[in-house]
Amino acid sequence: MTVDEKLADLRTALNRYNYCYHVLDSPEITDSAYDELMNELLALEKLHPDKFSEDSPSSRVGGSPLSKFEKIVHKIPMLSLDKCSTEQQLKAWSSRIEGRLISKSKVSYVCEPKIDGVAISLIYKEGVLSQAATRGNGAEGEGILANAKTIRSVPLHLIGTGFPRELEVRGEVYINQNDFKIYNEKLLEQNLEPLLNPRNAAAGSLRQLDASVTLKRPLKMFCYSMGWSSGEWSPSTHYQVLESFRSWGLPVNPWVERVLDLEEMLTYLHRLEIARDQLGYDIDGAVAKVNELGAQEKLGTLTRRPRWAIAYKYAAQEAETVLLDVEFQVGRTGAITPVAKLEPVFVGGVTVSNATLHNMDEVERLGLFKGAEVILRRAGDVIPQILKVVNPRLESQQKIIERPRVCPSCRTPIKLSIDNVVMRCEAPANDCSAKLKEMLKHFSSRLAFNLEGLGEKIIELLIASRLVSEPADFFNLTKSALEGLPGFGEKSAQNLLEEIEKKKKIDLHRFIYALGIREVGEATSKSLAKSFCDLENLRKANLELLNAVDDVGPIVADQIHSYFSDPMNILMLRNLLSSGVIISSLTEDPGKSDLLRGESWVITGTLQGFSRDSAKKILESFGATVVSNVSGKTTCVLVGEAPGSKYKKAQELGVSVITEDELLRRLDV
Ligand code: IVH
Repeated sequence: MTVDEKLADLRTALNRYNYCYHVLDSPEITDSAYDELMNELLALEKLHPDKFSEDSPSSRVGGSPLSKFEKIVHKIPMLSLDKCSTEQQLKAWSSRIEGRLISKSKVSYVCEPKIDGVAISLIYKEGVLSQAATRGNGAEGEGILANAKTIRSVPLHLIGTGFPRELEVRGEVYINQNDFKIYNEKLLEQNLEPLLNPRNAAAGSLRQLDASVTLKRPLKMFCYSMGWSSGEWSPSTHYQVLESFRSWGLPVNPWVERVLDLEEMLTYLHRLEIARDQLGYDIDGAVAKVNELGAQEKLGTLTRRPRWAIAYKYAAQEAETVLLDVEFQVGRTGAITPVAKLEPVFVGGVTVSNATLHNMDEVERLGLFKGAEVILRRAGDVIPQILKVVNPRLESQQKIIERPRVCPSCRTPIKLSIDNVVMRCEAPANDCSAKLKEMLKHFSSRLAFNLEGLGEKIIELLIASRLVSEPADFFNLTKSALEGLPGFGEKSAQNLLEEIEKKKKIDLHRFIYALGIREVGEATSKSLAKSFCDLENLRKANLELLNAVDDVGPIVADQIHSYFSDPMNILMLRNLLSSGVIISSLTEDPGKSDLLRGESWVITGTLQGFSRDSAKKILESFGATVVSNVSGKTTCVLVGEAPGSKYKKAQELGVSVITEDELLRRLDV
């Protein structure tokens, strides 16, 4: 093989693997195999500098920093979008469109997510990426080719056939919520200031003079329109443009859909809004565009925005509000976390009045004080977070938030972790009611004893009335004691006692989880149960044995060991066992996937937590067969809201029915 052939082979292979990984989301080789090929290419290119190629995958890694950006005049201005936020406004827009188009042929539309990132323009000449620019003021932007090349979903050259000689592709560069979180965590670990939000981070990343900085940012791109093209290619609809893009290896959002009329547009908007939290990236709404390019041209453009497109905005994911106070909450292990109490504000579709602050470092880094005007963010299913303070602190009036010295609940002096970050109350649980409450909540939670009907309020009541000061006390409650409590009658007392009685027999892994040992979550509890088979073996295990368990490292082993070395815990365990709790020791893993083996299931009604399809997949993954009609052979019917005739039939035939919640509990998923 000649050097030219070898270079071409390596470049083609690397471009292809890159495309599979970053555009199709289905990697074909491992990261290390990719790196190996890349190293081979770099070595060969170093030996043959004359064989340099603009679109070699090796050019993704930067180059020397620029001193300033080159100005780029956009051949066609990069426009903004008209906005609306109500269905009426959207309806008015589509009526205006349809009224303006005199031709009888009906227009259709394309709906897309409005990605909350930063606009980019890419020019491909003969299929090779040869220019990239920011939007700038719409008329003139900055040349950022080296930065654009670091974005792995941006193809360095187009694949397939039929692309025009020259093509300007426009799209949005963004960062996934999770990638952003990981990136910020890394910055914090290095004591660097975290980036504000994914959009700011994306915008800032594109405008780096040194592309090796951009390279480190987890940027991605979705292409959403064509700027212009020259040469053979004449699509007649916007949808065709995007389909061609896709076929040439350009990343196009999977939520792009064709719709016929306003009604379908509204359905799309609602579906997208529901899915918004699960997308994994920020969107601030949807964009509706007239699909036919001829109609777009007829409709034309006002100064800065086209008549043929409109952005429909959803509730903002960031909002300004006021920090009223910071409270310190004690967790079940005694860890004390600052929680921001906020003036309630509508953000990301819900009203938020609390935000966790993680630790005091975060409070200090943000410079929080009572009365601070803060920017709050709630995006995806991430917990609300304060991004920054926007007003300056007036020294005389506003006090900064200080570290508490004692536990807010029991006043025991707080212990700090070695790095001074985690604050902890080390009082025993029966001396600290906040800690006790959290511990009992954990003990009775779904994955532990699953004591239904024992909510937070009842636990508080049981602690306050001194009926419960340790888990064993749940099992010694009496009807007469409960009946004396506010809100309890004969029936409710009876129900609670029956529920507690029913849950006395428990699997070993649930029992271990219920103890609330630090660092021991559900998965670790299962590994421990599997390895030690009974509680006594676990209690006696030394560090070496603990360390040998799957999933258990030295820190976890240490926590388990010190838990069982504490005489208070041993006493608590002894009381628990003498109160009638029976642990069914797990000798072998029952293997979840066989739980519903041989059973025949039917699904009816609208499910809340998941789609029919995913419910079916879950049931099948546990070994059940899912069929469409209820018969005498049906094992069970899963019912959602507004179930139809299948539910009635199940009742007639005496087939068991189960709700979504009950199913999740039963499968323990
Ligand atoms: S179309 C003339 N489609 O929103 C049409 N824009 O407010 C121009 N954006 O600068 C844009 N997602 O950066 C279009 N699916 C999408 C979009 C989108 C995000 C951004 C774009 C533009 C801004 C306009």
